[in-house]
Amino acid sequence: MTETLQIDIHQIEKSRIDTVDFDNLIFGRSFADHMLMVDYEDGAWKTPQILPFGPISYSPAMMSLHYGQAIFEGMKAYKSPTGEILVFRPEENWKRLNKSAVRMCMPEVPEDIFMEGLSELLRLDSAWIPAKEGSSMYIRPFMFSTDEYVGVSPSKTYKFMIFTCPVGAYYTKPIRVRVETKYIRAAHGGVGFSKNAGNYGGSLYPTKLAVDAGYDQIIWTDASEHQYVEEAGTMNLMFVIDGKLVTAPTGDTILDGVTRKSVIQVAKDFGMEVEERQLSIKELTEGIASGKVQEAFGAGTAAVIAPIATVGYNGVDYDLPERPADAFSKRVYTEIDNIKTGKIEDTRGWVMKI
Ligand code: COI
Repeated sequence: MTETLQIDIHQIEKSRIDTVDFDNLIFGRSFADHMLMVDYEDGAWKTPQILPFGPISYSPAMMSLHYGQAIFEGMKAYKSPTGEILVFRPEENWKRLNKSAVRMCMPEVPEDIFMEGLSELLRLDSAWIPAKEGSSMYIRPFMFSTDEYVGVSPSKTYKFMIFTCPVGAYYTKPIRVRVETKYIRAAHGGVGFSKNAGNYGGSLYPTKLAVDAGYDQIIWTDASEHQYVEEAGTMNLMFVIDGKLVTAPTGDTILDGVTRKSVIQVAKDFGMEVEERQLSIKELTEGIASGKVQEAFGAGTAAVIAPIATVGYNGVDYDLPERPADAFSKRVYTEIDNIKTGKIEDTRGWVMKI
């Protein structure tokens, strides 16, 4: 990429990197030295700035705090065996951010601001990108409205920002998920496909109830009947049924996950049949009980491939079998991880080198 964008860089005086234990990274608790910040005012994006990571102060009347114009993305960067910085499919995240922006009545972020801002930020904080197996640099691009105004209307000003965190695993062991039969995440015509903050806020209470009952996550079901699998809120859901990969079609209630679409592509390349179709809770639970459902896993940027050990439904726990060494979810994890980390050739054009 030829870089032409002007970015004002204000470098930190002393790095905090020595304060971080890279052998025991907890997801989302450590932040690299710098952040990107770009203002939108008078109908245009201003010159991006890279600043020391730290607090920003705003009016209590800042609109995003009240009316929820707040969207975000999640991506990951890795170091290749030769020390290059690799980012996995950032163009997909840029496009999805802008789909969320349109739905939430926010301005779209130009590609050069997103890509060149990200590249410069990662270059500056490259020492923070973990090299250890299973660790990565989580990248959080986000945008929020900043007008000081209490009327309900689209804000006229916004900030687009990116910060980064060196992270370990999001889930550290196979998870227990519970089918949600009372609350809903998204309905047709709503904002379920967008990555806006409110979708996550709305998931917290039902997830807390599931956690209190001994589960890690929820399986969201369709809003009208609670009959069909949607997604898990932190990741898409995928199943191996009779040797085929089955996952819900994305539509307007489910996030169009980058890991989801990568898994689908790799499955097809492995010669596996893929069905993007509705999966009923009846088919899922009966299929686990009868052995037709061989694997269940979540797929997401943060979660990567998160094997599911148990599906709880109406007070009954349905346990998945132990995954054999050649389980699809293990093979697809390895294939995608090898591409992300530059251990094998990126034949699909998924990796951006910085
Ligand atoms: C991601 O996978 O990047 C997400 O945004 C999920 C988030 C809940 C950590």
